[in-house]
Amino acid sequence: MTQRIGIDSVDGGVCLIKQTGKVKCLRDKIEAQKEQLAFDREHEVHIGIAHTRWATHGVPSDVNSHPQRSGEGNAFVVVHNGIITNYKDVKLFLIQKGHKFESETDTEVIAKLTEHLHHLHPTYSFRELVEQVVQQLEGAFALCFKSKHFPGEVVATRRGSPLLVGIKTKTKLATDHIPVLYSKDSPEKVELKDHRPHANDIPATGFNRTQSTTEFLPLGDDREVEYFFASDASAIIEHTDRVIYLLDDDVSSVDTEGVLKIHRLKRSLDDTHAREITTLKMEIQQIMKGNFSSFMQKEIFEQPESVVNTMRGRINFDRETVVLGGIKDYISEIRRCRRLLLIACGTSYHSAIATRQLLEELTELPVMVDLASDFLDRNTPIFRDDVCFFISQSGETADTLMALRYCKQRGALIVGITNTVGSSICRESHCGVHINAGPEIGVASTKAYTSQMISLVMFALMISEDRISAQPRRSEIIQGLHKLPEQIKEVLSLDSKIQEISKEVFEKKSLLVLGRGYNYATCLEGALKIKEITYMHSEGILAGELKHGPLALVDRGMPIIMICTRDNVFVKCMNALQQVTAREGRPILICHKGDEEPQKYGSSVLEVPKTVDCLQGLLTVIPMQLLSYHIAVLRGCNVDCPRNLAKSVTVE
Ligand code: F6R
Repeated sequence: MTQRIGIDSVDGGVCLIKQTGKVKCLRDKIEAQKEQLAFDREHEVHIGIAHTRWATHGVPSDVNSHPQRSGEGNAFVVVHNGIITNYKDVKLFLIQKGHKFESETDTEVIAKLTEHLHHLHPTYSFRELVEQVVQQLEGAFALCFKSKHFPGEVVATRRGSPLLVGIKTKTKLATDHIPVLYSKDSPEKVELKDHRPHANDIPATGFNRTQSTTEFLPLGDDREVEYFFASDASAIIEHTDRVIYLLDDDVSSVDTEGVLKIHRLKRSLDDTHAREITTLKMEIQQIMKGNFSSFMQKEIFEQPESVVNTMRGRINFDRETVVLGGIKDYISEIRRCRRLLLIACGTSYHSAIATRQLLEELTELPVMVDLASDFLDRNTPIFRDDVCFFISQSGETADTLMALRYCKQRGALIVGITNTVGSSICRESHCGVHINAGPEIGVASTKAYTSQMISLVMFALMISEDRISAQPRRSEIIQGLHKLPEQIKEVLSLDSKIQEISKEVFEKKSLLVLGRGYNYATCLEGALKIKEITYMHSEGILAGELKHGPLALVDRGMPIIMICTRDNVFVKCMNALQQVTAREGRPILICHKGDEEPQKYGSSVLEVPKTVDCLQGLLTVIPMQLLSYHIAVLRGCNVDCPRNLAKSVTVE
């Protein structure tokens, strides 16, 4: 990984410092070079922009890392999260105008275009210049600009990719809104820290200016304000918990006097006239590793608590009632719908597979489960009486978000299931459920998966509360959920045994995970965990499909994990197990505690407590999470930051 930062330098230009390795290595280098930078305490205003790059265009390398630059002395530098889809056209245009490119990135066109427009319009302010630039761009982006022509200023904007502003003051903020200004109407200067409205300040109501009730309130007496622009709240929580989530086409700037402004180019009907300053519930401890060696390990071991947080205040275990506040007003509309669609990517998609059968059973509605990218590729027909669930830990996954917009345009009811308050999916849904798993930092999703499953189970319980015939089933599931945290602890106590098993398989090339019914999702999710953090090939296979091809892979040397718990497909699973052992396969078995029958066939056995069939996947997935973790450690892989992957996939 290459880290690069652009920061004010003493000569008034922008100094770019780069360093291969982790962010800490870059920090050490900056500390060593402090004197050369305008970084001393006497300067009230100093600005830096930095980036950790996940490659879309161009290989990971120094030259392709951000900030990308343009002009002498780094006249304009920019960091970018997203993809510019028309970059080839813009690049061609700029080459024809004599610009020379040094990188293979789409981002470099933004820096060069800014410089080009600056020459054409030398009187434009930095913010006006950026507004001109983004009008030429297509695709998804969150951008942050710095320039030697505008020292001490920064401009940031977004369209399609997430961006927030963190505000840190020494005293309490006296306002919870920042007014939005329109370029045409905007005054020369709006003092965020000055409570008197400027005569020309026209907050954007979207419909009728006279309806506006926004006041320009002071931030407080404290004149020292620090601002942080970031894609994700966890990047800034150590500095401040007060943030503004910017909307698409917001252009936000901080000037030399430390004044924050938010502008929009055009009015749209759904504009609000101010951006709210929200207080994050996240605690700094939540994003620290504590005694664990990685975030992933910490998050696996947090599951007894995270599942409780998902259910807290929603399930009454004595009365056996379930209320999801975020969707209760839509329940009758959902009950009348034509079908439910569950749309997501990766692990979040697996949570949909894991709960589909229960949703069909308790809602008595057809349930379609789709990968967001495939759903969009097919131009799937969507109707006004469809209810579409979008499941996403980050709430920012581009494919899922685009599928959401596609369904919303066609009039469907949109339900978001996310772990990130204020995320795009959260904001753009009609209603939804926060899974409340707490921040998930490890790239491999673990605790979010179990909390997503529980959220969907709670939805099924809520929607079926009026069905008399479903009461015994609802009751056993609710009591099953009650026991879950203790049972998860019991599964986690298998950790050292799983570590021993991982020693037997970590050098193998491949690993198959077999199961069916409610455990099929565990096979897919387990195999995904193995491949993404250990780089070992792994496949989750529906046991019913074994004889249709995968059986050819089975021999004495092929590591196999088989999930065989006592449910309505147990006998079929035993058949598959025997087919495997007949080909000299000696699978590692995940089965119920004390169940001797399947254990006869296993090379090793991981015994998990028995729960209700539809909840069993919540317990069988944990050994798979732990196994992938231990294999990754033994193979020397970076557990939290697997190669080529990013936590939020905000590009198509
Ligand atoms: C795997 C993993 C990914 C994500 C996928 C969707 O461990 O984390 O497969 O599940 O990228 O991300 P979200 O849930 O943020 O939409």
